[in-house]
Amino acid sequence: MQIIFKTNNDQSIEIGEETSLLRASIRHKAGIPFKCGGGMCGTCICTINEGMEHTNKLTKKELNILNEEQIKSSKRLACQTIVNGTVSVSWDKKK
Ligand code: FES
Repeated sequence: MQIIFKTNNDQSIEIGEETSLLRASIRHKAGIPFKCGGGMCGTCICTINEGMEHTNKLTKKELNILNEEQIKSSKRLACQTIVNGTVSVSWDKKK
């Protein structure tokens, strides 16, 4: 299974076991922004471009932070999103 970090020049990594998007991003220096790492701050908001079916269900923390429109447009919190198959992800580059 693969994670494609579209915003980081389509960086593509292989993952051997399920992992959170944020953990994979940190390990491979893909650059998804984050602060708390625990579903509180909303900094790690990203868009699952493909492969939402290979992720966990929205967590309670995501339901607290994301509004309906964001949920409809495939937004997730990278620190809360567990990947168990190929996905591609993008995010806003800020600052
Ligand atoms: S890093 Fe704070 S919500 Fe994900």
